[in-house]
Amino acid sequence: MSQLSTGLTAAERENLKFLLSMAAGGIISGHAQGISKELRDKALGVSQQSLPKLLAGPREKYPTGIVFHGRAPFLSDEQLTTLDQESRECRSRAERFMDHYVASGAPAAREASLSEPVRAFLGETVGAVAPTRRANYLYYDEPGLGIDPHVDKDEFSLNILTMLEHRSGGGQRSELILHPPGQDAIHFHLQPGESLVFFADSVTHQRTRTVADESIRLVSFGYRTLEGNS
Ligand SMILES: [Fe+2]
Repeated sequence: MSQLSTGLTAAERENLKFLLSMAAGGIISGHAQGISKELRDKALGVSQQSLPKLLAGPREKYPTGIVFHGRAPFLSDEQLTTLDQESRECRSRAERFMDHYVASGAPAAREASLSEPVRAFLGETVGAVAPTRRANYLYYDEPGLGIDPHVDKDEFSLNILTMLEHRSGGGQRSELILHPPGQDAIHFHLQPGESLVFFADSVTHQRTRTVADESIRLVSFGYRTLEGNS
């Protein structure tokens, strides 16, 4: 697959990536029940393992696709407070995108995504990246919102996802799940202020559906990696 990708144009590679991600997402979501489990597992393995290989670059250093999880050193408490406030203010203009709401173009989010500490952190971990100027507030604040297993387009090759608020009535809660190739799924319950930095273009991921009385606000910064094929 890596060999094949070297002969493809950027657009062809993006199409192949799209087909592989649809295959992986479809199988994980249970849309391939008509074929045997053996074949299904094989198809899932091939599609998931091909995605990072197709894109190569710094992804090989991160077999789970996860670069960092925790309280990010590149975001100050003050910045988190500002982002939280701006996220609340932007809710009224957020637009529905599939099964969640998105507000883009907010100035504080954009400024934070372009800050020197973020650039330095990414430079030390994954190497040089190009900010795509994509900084979105995400809202899962009605019952039944979520996002099915998918991989992102190259504006979010690398995603810094930060939890701003997660309210729930207790019991079952929506969670973020990553499906790294050939490994068990990894479940995240991000705490407010915690970030996950991961290769969203090559590791299948999803957010399970929100339940009654649950409300989630996140901010997501997108970057494009410069090494490798992408
Ligand atoms: Fe995503």
